Amino acid sequence: MIIRKMTNSDIETVAQIEKECFVDPWSVDTLSQSLENECYDYAVLVFNDEIIGYFCMHTLFDTSELFRVAVLNAYRRKGYGLLLIEKVLEIAREKGAEHIFLEVRAKNLSAIALYEKVGFIKYGERANYYGGGEDAYLYSFEIGGV
Ligand SMILES: CC(C)(COP(=O)(O)OP(=O)(O)OC[C@H]1O[C@@H](n2cnc3c(N)ncnc32)[C@H](O)[C@@H]1OP(=O)(O)O)[C@@H](O)C(=O)NCCC(=O)NCCS
Repeated sequence: MIIRKMTNSDIETVAQIEKECFVDPWSVDTLSQSLENECYDYAVLVFNDEIIGYFCMHTLFDTSELFRVAVLNAYRRKGYGLLLIEKVLEIAREKGAEHIFLEVRAKNLSAIALYEKVGFIKYGERANYYGGGEDAYLYSFEIGGV
């Protein structure tokens, strides 16, 4: 099992992961647009030569944002999500970020449980942020604070 930088040749596979894992999946175009942007970090989790998870984050000055983290359904609850988040923290630290922010659907209990396990703290909510009455919870993690 390794976590490595995502490359152009991974985009089709990651788009499939997006389709399996999200109700609003990112397209191949969306994934391609920011892959070469150095503010973005995309990484894939490879197990037995198969990409089974990935994340996308953005870092500018002292702030990182985690946009996506996903593990294929068949591989969940084995600690891979945790490994991906630990890599997110490592990259944020390396880039000199002091805070990591993210938004999560209030109903996404598995992601919320994962973030809280790592030490993310809920600091706000946005009512109906996703439409259809779905609220967003806002979480932050202070680098060096844990
Ligand atoms: C969120 C997600 C990445 C978690 O991945 P995972 O590999 O299953 O997570 P892990 O196995 O590392 O879980 C680590 C901890 O998170 C918590 N957790 C994860 N899934 C959980 C669930 N379904 N119910 C309760 N707690 C859960 C637990 O505390 C777990 O530790 P434990 O298994 O020792 O109890 C995965 O469910 C996923 O891809 N979901 C769809 C995409 C998504 O919603 N991403 C987040 C928004 S961008």
